[in-house]
Amino acid sequence: MLRIYKKSDYESMSRQVANLIAAQVTLKPKSVLGLATGSTPNGAYKYLIESCKQGDLSFAEISTVNLDEYVGLAPDHEQSYRYYMNDNLFNHVDIKLENTHVPNGLATHPTQECLQYEQLIADLGGVDLQLLGMGHNGHIAFNEPSESYTKITNVVDLAERTIQANSIYFENDVNKVPKQAFTMGIGSIMRARKIVIAVSGAEKAESLVKAFQGPITPSLPASILQVHHDVVLVADEAALSKF
Ligand code: GLP
Repeated sequence: MLRIYKKSDYESMSRQVANLIAAQVTLKPKSVLGLATGSTPNGAYKYLIESCKQGDLSFAEISTVNLDEYVGLAPDHEQSYRYYMNDNLFNHVDIKLENTHVPNGLATHPTQECLQYEQLIADLGGVDLQLLGMGHNGHIAFNEPSESYTKITNVVDLAERTIQANSIYFENDVNKVPKQAFTMGIGSIMRARKIVIAVSGAEKAESLVKAFQGPITPSLPASILQVHHDVVLVADEAALSKF
């Protein structure tokens, strides 16, 4: 089932996403949250930090698993997703850092890292709520457009468009952007009990309408969400302008 929240702008989209996560955390304080990085969830994380500081919310018993990580970046590299999560959320709420998980970008045995990450998600009991953003080409996590869906956590080559888009975090230099990443597979994502996908901005409108109203195809990875039983799309008017 798909529910759509159409919000006026980025800020109100962010508040809505934060409210959904807060509801999950409040109703099930031991939830396993699947978290995302990028510019989209940033605002929601700020609202969650605020609620936590006001004493309205506690992450004390929450566990998290992140969607993805760049291959080759150390956890303390400023553009690693581990650094992003610590900096934008974990260091400002009462979560126990040992209960937060991000693939290890420096893993010496990538295949083993992928299998272990998948096992970790299973050992935690699966993801209760998975937060997603969406790339301009319709990618979710780092699952790029391809000919088939990946089932589990794997290592992917990033698409040119993704490298371009993410170069803003690497001094606008595409050569500095890692070319590969660890990512949960489409299967890992689809196993989450609830999915919240946040999308903002007119430049994603075309991919967004195709994802939810077009054919289900691995060439537009987000389209698989049409068959998930519990998806909430929170988007601003600009992103929903082609619906
Ligand atoms: C990145 C991340 C995704 C994210 C997407 C959109 O490359 N791997 O998890 O959802 O691309 O990013 P943004 O929110 O910055 O547009």
